[in-house]
Amino acid sequence: MIDFLKNMPKAELHIHIEGSLEPDLMFEIARRNQISLPYANEKEVRNAYQFNDLQSFLDIYYKGANVLKTKQDFYDMTWAYLARCHDQNIVHTELFFDPQTHMDHGVDFDVIINGISRALEDGKKAFNITSYLVLCFLRHLSAESAMKTLVRAIDYKQHIIGVGLDSSEMGHPPEKFINVFERALKEGFLTVAHAGEEGPAEYIWQALDLLHVKRIDHGIRCMEDPDLTMRLIEEQVPLTVCPLSNVKLNVFDEIKAHNILELLDKNLKVTVNSDDPAYFGGYLNENYIVLYNELGMDKGQAVRLAKNSFESSFLPLKDKLKQVNILENYADESE
Ligand code: ADE
Ligand code: ZN
Repeated sequence: MIDFLKNMPKAELHIHIEGSLEPDLMFEIARRNQISLPYANEKEVRNAYQFNDLQSFLDIYYKGANVLKTKQDFYDMTWAYLARCHDQNIVHTELFFDPQTHMDHGVDFDVIINGISRALEDGKKAFNITSYLVLCFLRHLSAESAMKTLVRAIDYKQHIIGVGLDSSEMGHPPEKFINVFERALKEGFLTVAHAGEEGPAEYIWQALDLLHVKRIDHGIRCMEDPDLTMRLIEEQVPLTVCPLSNVKLNVFDEIKAHNILELLDKNLKVTVNSDDPAYFGGYLNENYIVLYNELGMDKGQAVRLAKNSFESSFLPLKDKLKQVNILENYADESE
């Protein structure tokens, strides 16, 4: 079963590219940019990765992201992630990036987007991995700052398929960003939002009704509201769930307590994702494997999750159908 999961073709829809920055590359980039890190070595970095909640993670994550200064830095980080995708049979990925984190430290939008996009183009050529980029606004910052970032992104539309909302959820409801998302939709960007990770079900309603999102990132708290759960089922709104992340950030005490398979069995459109793999102890395959080892996920459930990952992607319909077909053949051949 573990080999079946590893070799299964799959898509990833919830990965913060800055969250894929492994300690060894973080040190190498810090060294070449002459930035001192608050850690003596990689082991100390890993020891620091003990989190109580989302905020305690974000505090460390933003420090790590601050080593990134040049186009080459963004390229190298993205390339390292794509090499992992290739190893893990991830054939399509939709990546978040957080431009405000970098622009607030003097890095130009152009540097960020060109570094990441160039790596994605090379990933298509070298590995045949398709990808889209989603710009996330940091919800702890103001709506004005998000709007300025959106306006900057308009010139780069050919590289960015959509916009999202991440960072500290509590106290920063989706409604804070109504105007920004309205403008984004007018400009032709698709929309997504983190909601119902630490925040209440009400934030999921807001993301749907006020920000008109195509997917909810996390969304695992939806089950606290039966009407909301019903709506998510009826409309087949995808949830990009991140099991290892949820345990690391204490959203669930342990994988055994995670509700992902319950959501799947209720016919919610659930997908599996890694969120910030360098920080949470695993990439996409490790997330699938832990669901098998600890929640007893069976083959049928694994294939449904992978199928959902393609169907919930922003790929054109013909590409979705093609990928689902390849997946179904793979599952049949393994019988
Ligand atoms: N930024 C990176 N990872 C995040 C997460 N899991 N939730 C909110 N913001 C994030
Ligand atoms: Zn996330």
